[in-house]
Amino acid sequence: MEKCFAIEEKDIKELIRSAVMARNMAYARYSGFKVGAALLAQPGRIFTGCNIENSSYGATICAERAAVCNAVSSGYSDFKAIAIVGGLGSTGISGITYPCGICRQVLSEFSPDMYVIAAKSEDDYDMRKLSEFLPASFDAGQMK
Ligand code: THU
Repeated sequence: MEKCFAIEEKDIKELIRSAVMARNMAYARYSGFKVGAALLAQPGRIFTGCNIENSSYGATICAERAAVCNAVSSGYSDFKAIAIVGGLGSTGISGITYPCGICRQVLSEFSPDMYVIAAKSEDDYDMRKLSEFLPASFDAGQMK
């Protein structure tokens, strides 16, 4: 893991706090697994999202993609970092939640060099570059 990150500790903590708050809005009536995400967009704005499940399970949207939809539809598509927290509704945030493959691809569309902060708490998280989670990704450059 890299030692020197281009993101400040206070921003990391604020993002994790925002993800925890966003998680409270999760609509997870089928799995009970509530996820919250907070995106740091440039210049300097945070957009949040939660998972929104559906009786047609495949129509479920993950918290990360909900946050991306919020940001992009507000005109922000340059992302520095995303924090993610998850856990079963009643027990709260129990462990690390990593972004699913679809969310990795969607984030990569906009900011392949951003940071992913998979958090248990403000002080306990695994932060890596998105490119480490999704190496050799498919992108627009290959559609030639
Ligand atoms: N989920 C997310 O919101 N983000 C992820 O990266 C992993 C999975 C949601 C989808 C579903 O509502 C629930 O967690 C269980 O899979």
